[in-house]
Amino acid sequence: MTLQVAIIGGGNMGQALSRGILRDPSLDANVTVADPRAEVLLNEFPIDVRVLTDNRKAIEPSEVVILALKPQVMESVVKPLRPYIGEKIVVTVAAGIPIAKYQEWLGSHIALIRCMPNTPTLVGMGVTGLFTNANATAVDREIVARLLQSTGDLLWVKNENELHTITALSGSGPAYFIYMMEAMIKQGIELGFTPSTSRAIVVQTALGTATLAAQSDEDLQQLRHRITSPRGTTERAIQVFDELAVDRGIQEGTKSAHQRSIELAESF
Ligand SMILES: NC(=O)c1ccc[n+]([C@@H]2O[C@H](COP(=O)([O-])OP(=O)(O)OC[C@H]3O[C@@H](n4cnc5c(N)ncnc54)[C@H](OP(=O)(O)O)[C@@H]3O)[C@@H](O)[C@H]2O)c1
Repeated sequence: MTLQVAIIGGGNMGQALSRGILRDPSLDANVTVADPRAEVLLNEFPIDVRVLTDNRKAIEPSEVVILALKPQVMESVVKPLRPYIGEKIVVTVAAGIPIAKYQEWLGSHIALIRCMPNTPTLVGMGVTGLFTNANATAVDREIVARLLQSTGDLLWVKNENELHTITALSGSGPAYFIYMMEAMIKQGIELGFTPSTSRAIVVQTALGTATLAAQSDEDLQQLRHRITSPRGTTERAIQVFDELAVDRGIQEGTKSAHQRSIELAESF
């Protein structure tokens, strides 16, 4: 039977998720997106996605409701939906808002799956951390896992607090890698390449390195040592990174993202 899915919020995540669901030929699902900008969004969504402005109309026939809204509007948007949620599976991708809040807004009975995706979800290469409340059954988890499988890797966590670690590693992580790429591109330009050539070289290097790491069973330090010949160019660069404590800076930055995620959750 065709699964009816409503996505509330047609922004970056709403689009990434609807594209992911439709990309998967093994899924039999109808997707309806609700967003106040429905008319504008019609052109941005695949033709098979129904786009509405009315959240209630979108969720009524649906078995799964995905909340892809900014955290600051979540409460005001979901509270009016409470009478229509019934036994639907509710999935939220909003950063920070704890499960307890959704239960307060929608009812303590709701089956809720909280997800923390990242932007590579847009290209089917994401990492999504998932946590479920006790009301969600194994079948509910299986349905949501099948819906999200084409967006990338899925990782179920046992404790809701672990979503803060997911946020600090994979949620914010793409920005850390881009930060490093930006610095390398800048240096490539200073050394004489055009911005587009420097970007192409650095992006392909990042892609190739991530693919190599993903396909290798080798410890990452060993993998790095194999590229680092004694007294060679790589060794010189790594020495400078060590002198500048770049690794410590990355660890500290990641730790502070984790802390910020806790602070944001406490503000709800
Ligand atoms: N982007 C990421 O990489 C990422 C990663 C992990 C988690 N998340 C989470 O995903 C959630 C969505 O992020 P996003 O980047 O997709 O945000 P976004 O692009 O701003 O999308 C949110 C969409 O919801 C719409 N909206 C506002 N009020 C609405 C309402 N009453 N009913 C229905 N739709 C409404 C917004 O329209 P307007 O623009 O007109 O307000 C917008 O199109 C956030 O909670 C974020 O924490 C995002």
